[in-house]
Amino acid sequence: METQVLQPSQSSFELAGKLLREGQLVGMPTETVYGLAANAFDPAAVEKIFKAKGRPMDNPLIVHISHISQVEQLVKEFSPKARALAETFWSGPLTIIMPCSDKVPTQVTAGLPTVAVRFPSHKAAQQIINAAGVPLAAPSANLSGSPSPTTAQAVYGDLKGRVPLIIDGGQCQVGLESTVITVATDVPTLLRPGGITVEQLRSVIGDVHIDKGVTHMLDKNAVVASPGMKYKHYAPKARVIILKGGSDEYIDYVNRHSLQGVGALCYKEDCAGLNVPCVVLGEKDDYSAQAHNLFSDLRKLDEMGLTTVYARCPETSGVGLAVYNRLIRSAGFEVIDLA
Ligand code: TXA
Ligand code: MG
Repeated sequence: METQVLQPSQSSFELAGKLLREGQLVGMPTETVYGLAANAFDPAAVEKIFKAKGRPMDNPLIVHISHISQVEQLVKEFSPKARALAETFWSGPLTIIMPCSDKVPTQVTAGLPTVAVRFPSHKAAQQIINAAGVPLAAPSANLSGSPSPTTAQAVYGDLKGRVPLIIDGGQCQVGLESTVITVATDVPTLLRPGGITVEQLRSVIGDVHIDKGVTHMLDKNAVVASPGMKYKHYAPKARVIILKGGSDEYIDYVNRHSLQGVGALCYKEDCAGLNVPCVVLGEKDDYSAQAHNLFSDLRKLDEMGLTTVYARCPETSGVGLAVYNRLIRSAGFEVIDLA
């Protein structure tokens, strides 16, 4: 199949809407990462997503809406806490997991009694959902296991020939997938950190637990709250090793291991001292920039042909927790403590 890449316009939105109503897939920009969208109420269309990505069928999808009123048809219960979160953070990079209605196909929920719902703030995403006239199920638009795409070119690189249309909405502003919180548990629980921080969530609904899988490797046989957490994720082809420690120790360690094919994923402040090729994550204290750059940096490491990459360990407060959560997965939880 031929893959068209079109700029946002009335006619490209109409084409996207038509394809989606016909049960086809569309690559859709959002403020977090690009999504691979299908009509959420069409089981056969949803199955195409799993095929195109090579995604395991037991990993559920997020349903995207363009108006808060669309929640009602998707959920059994829109609780006061869920409503407070939605009214505060939507439209924006927050996904809320709630008990699901009978209308949501099992292909979307992977058979779970819950559904994940998100209202993206990207105008093109809203226009595409409006044009389709139905909520859209969409995972990140990468091949399963690769870093999530933050440009239309990255989507094209992964999915050309597998999807008829990609709308090019430019570089994603947040750069990491949405924050995922479940309110279907006794205490609301953060399953995936993102652009909306746990500190912000607590300021609206009080107590929020952080699932162990956010920062720790889960046992292969563990029952996981969010199936996506058990897969190795966001991985570039290079082996990534996280080095925990200060700038001096980091630079010293990397320079002592500067063989052919070795590179660094570091803070801007580290660059001058390193004698290996480096890719800059951002300034040390600029967590939003680090989030914005991480996935394109991981793709860049592969383009440079590096085989081993030593990464500076991100901080775990604010949006830093989201950067840490993704990087530690791309490193397969391989961390060396230099202290
Ligand atoms: O920012 C985002 O969320 C992007 C854009 C496209 O919206 N989407 C995205 O989708 O990151 P995906 O499929 O790559 O990640 C969805 C995550 C997975 O880890 C999945 O297991 C989890 O959300 N998830 C979805 N539905 C769930 C449910 N009912 N219960 C628990 N986890 C769920
Ligand atoms: Mg994904």
